Amino acid sequence: MRVLLIAPPGAGKGTQGAIIAAHFDIPHIATGVLLRDHVARKTELGREVEAHLARGELVPDELVVDMVKQAVIDAKSAGGGYVLDGIPRNMAQARAIYDIGRELEMTANVVLHLKVTEEEIVRRLLARAALEHRSDDSEEVIRHRLEVYRTLTLPIVDWYAERGILVSVDAMRPVERVGRQILTALEAMRPLIDYVPESARRSIDLTGLGAAFGSD
Ligand code: AP5
Ligand code: MG
Repeated sequence: MRVLLIAPPGAGKGTQGAIIAAHFDIPHIATGVLLRDHVARKTELGREVEAHLARGELVPDELVVDMVKQAVIDAKSAGGGYVLDGIPRNMAQARAIYDIGRELEMTANVVLHLKVTEEEIVRRLLARAALEHRSDDSEEVIRHRLEVYRTLTLPIVDWYAERGILVSVDAMRPVERVGRQILTALEAMRPLIDYVPESARRSIDLTGLGAAFGSD
């Protein structure tokens, strides 16, 4: 199972990425986590990206793409699955990830899009700010991250819908319910992923299916 997780800040990429990775026993590659680790360890890359993270700006494409390529190479030797959380964030990265996938025979099977309102995002991230100390969890930077998402990242969701590998999920509900819906959808797609060529896949929008999964 190879999943790209594309969603706004605070939508639950980290939370749901961990659930998917545990369920399918595959690595969870989260670009923000990897970048923050470089910052904490004061590596050369960390020093280069620290200010971008604090301002809520994207770090230069080639830095993040090189970092992720190595992680995908490692994922290939670990069995061939992955959950990529936080990349691609713009069209250039979408193309780069696709090229890396082709080169390594590791293209994504599914793009998972989590839908959450901006009001809920701000609420979640300000709640997290009170507990953790991420440099980008102030209201001003949260709003800027949302703006970056709207202008650069959201357009590529349509691109994946056209390619027929997009699954959209209503992520406004509690963590377990969102997780259950995602795992049910991914399990249902497994035979398709295993036996049907990419060109034959159609996009699926699960946003309206909350009731079927036991939500209110
Ligand atoms: P990144 O670390 O990816 O941050 P982000 O996109 O802003 O998203 P978050 O990690 O804040 O949220 P999340 O969607 O993971 O949600 P989470 O599960 O934590 O990127 C940070 C920065 O790194 C970027 O701004 C950029 O500078 C740089 N960067 C990263 N990738 C890059 C790239 N490809 N190119 C260039 N630059 C890049 O949940 C959030 C909170 O909500 C948590 O407290 C959680 O407990 C809670 N929560 C989760 N789900 C629910 C739920 N269903 N109900 C209630 N609460 C919930
Ligand atoms: Mg995250």
